[in-house]
Amino acid sequence: MDFTGRDLIRGEPEKVITEKVDYLKDIGVCAVWLSPVLKSPQLDFGYDVSDFKQIDPIYGTMQDFDRMIDKFHKAGTKVLLNFVPNHTSNMHDWLKKSVKRINPYTDYFIWKDAKYVDGVRSPPNNWVARFTGPAWEWNDQRQQYYLHQFLVEQPDLDYRNPKVHDEIKDVMDFWLKRGLDGFRIDAICFIYERADFADEPESGEAGFVPTDYSYWKHVCTRDQPENVDLAKELEEFVNSYKKTESDTPKILLLECYGPPSVVMPFYGNDTRIGAAFPFNFNMLDYMNRESDVQAIKDMIAIWLANMPEGKWANWVISNHDRVRIATRMDNMLLDGIHMLQMVLPGTAITYYGDELGMEDTYVRWDQATDTFALNVGPDRFTLFDRGPSRSPFPWDDSKNAGFSDGPDLWLPINPNYWMNNMKLQTKRKSHLKTYQALATLRKSATFIYGDADVFVISKWVLALSRSYKDHPTYIVVINFNSYTETVDLLKDRPTLPHNLNVQLSSLNASINEGNLVKTNSIVLRPKAALLLTTARNDEN
Ligand code: NOJ
Repeated sequence: MDFTGRDLIRGEPEKVITEKVDYLKDIGVCAVWLSPVLKSPQLDFGYDVSDFKQIDPIYGTMQDFDRMIDKFHKAGTKVLLNFVPNHTSNMHDWLKKSVKRINPYTDYFIWKDAKYVDGVRSPPNNWVARFTGPAWEWNDQRQQYYLHQFLVEQPDLDYRNPKVHDEIKDVMDFWLKRGLDGFRIDAICFIYERADFADEPESGEAGFVPTDYSYWKHVCTRDQPENVDLAKELEEFVNSYKKTESDTPKILLLECYGPPSVVMPFYGNDTRIGAAFPFNFNMLDYMNRESDVQAIKDMIAIWLANMPEGKWANWVISNHDRVRIATRMDNMLLDGIHMLQMVLPGTAITYYGDELGMEDTYVRWDQATDTFALNVGPDRFTLFDRGPSRSPFPWDDSKNAGFSDGPDLWLPINPNYWMNNMKLQTKRKSHLKTYQALATLRKSATFIYGDADVFVISKWVLALSRSYKDHPTYIVVINFNSYTETVDLLKDRPTLPHNLNVQLSSLNASINEGNLVKTNSIVLRPKAALLLTTARNDEN
């Protein structure tokens, strides 16, 4: 959820917060995860926290925050905070004290002596930071290097120090006591490094220079087994807030990119009772304009087949670090992708604005705010800049898309905001309407308990069905092709009735909701999709 910092400060938080809460409730969102709102110099969009127990003044006050949680809870919406355990900002008090070797902070961070080669000082090993350049920063005062896996201004905490675990849990406790429902845990795969601090090998990937992260294979700085232990420890900690059987468990969403062997252990085994799950980034990582239906089916199957028995799936299609789905695929395909994401069993995770089909917005060099991109300079910044997917939400067609009435914004608004914004989409057939309808529909029994079956109709047409006992069956058909396709569902599923009802049709489909289609000849325009059902019109 995005809200206007300026509006909060200007003294009308009540109105702003209430509007946004109502909107999210209306479109069927059950829980929101806030981008970082804690005190921060904002060098990494707030992922550089200088005080874990304060709200950054650009967003408002602690009172505003409490009021917001209250509003959300009254609307029945859960609130998760973004939580960054891997590092702090270099402006955090802990680092300042650690530099001076003031206990107990002396060993809160990963400090290492320099290596001297021919009398020249150099870092202890060859590690490169995720945001390019050496992962070590020399500190003159302490006469040691500290590790930073991200920006220089984001020193890594040392989890081999038990006191750091206590601090982190103390912070979580602070927010949980304020009524928070859980956390999105940032960069869990980066928390531990190999204890021998060995050099990392080259990756062999083409197109990168040695100061680039991708030039190296991160066998010492990522995916260490201790990360899973930490996740388990945090999960057990938040589970202790579930006092009675009827209490909803606190949620932990774990950010970790990687193959199933790396990600699935975060689900834990059956003896764990909590609601922690790793994000499923497969669609984010691998679904693009080149993906054919078999590839999409495989990426779905890989998650479901590798997920431990009894665990809950989830589907991420965009986030604040990547190109938005409507840009990565095709705006016209968006309803189909939402049908896929929201009809599949599990939690559908929506990045703000995806429900409108928001696309990336071009950000010029002089407008860029992402330090990651600024660090590489004007020639290559577009390769790394995350600004395009972080453009402000278009609420309406007023100045600055209704996001703020201030003189400027921290990133440009998409110039199409006047014809594509939330307000307009509530008034006509739109991506938003499809999203909203799907969110309502998925609360019915077939979507919660039913079997899921993904099948390949042709190279470019995918179908997904959900069926449950004697409840209506639902079938999504999506045409990923750039040409019209005629689909015969009876060929693959001969037991289906000969006519199906159109429950939902994508913006670009030629068939309207409520109509019947012949199961053996469904015509789909390029990138169009339908959600069909065996239910009669009055049965839903
Ligand atoms: C992952 C976050 O998603 C990203 O935005 C951030 O820059 C890094 N972690 C560092 O905290």
